[in-house]
Amino acid sequence: MELEGLVSAAREARSNAYAPYSKFRVGAAVMGISGRIYVGCNVENASYGATLCAERAAICSMVACGESRLTAVAVFTDADPAASPCGICRQVLAEFAEDAPIVIASPRLQSVLSLAALLPERFVFNQGTILNG
Ligand code: THU
Repeated sequence: MELEGLVSAAREARSNAYAPYSKFRVGAAVMGISGRIYVGCNVENASYGATLCAERAAICSMVACGESRLTAVAVFTDADPAASPCGICRQVLAEFAEDAPIVIASPRLQSVLSLAALLPERFVFNQGTILNG
């Protein structure tokens, strides 16, 4: 799979990050099953808890454009070691793929992780017996 284009898209999206509080700029790109690429960046807020991560911004763009399966993810930061998706983003990414390569990249570093490995035993709604329900 062509992951370099996805990494470039994430790098470009990072330049639009709105991160006046942390100064930590993140760009993300997800590839839909159609092959289309959707990007996102982190969008911080004066009320810190309202901050949106880049990965979830990219997912929202994908869903808003009518896709609900992803095949690959790229996350671009300046961090060393390269930053991997936070826990909430892992769960949100896992909503749209059983597994997928996740490229974590910075200007000098790049490696590929697996979504399934990053989130074993993910929460799945209504799979077990609901006790006392
Ligand atoms: N951030 C992301 O965009 N993605 C992650 O997976 C982790 C953190 C952002 C949120 C906040 O704007 C900044 O990085 C510092 O936490």
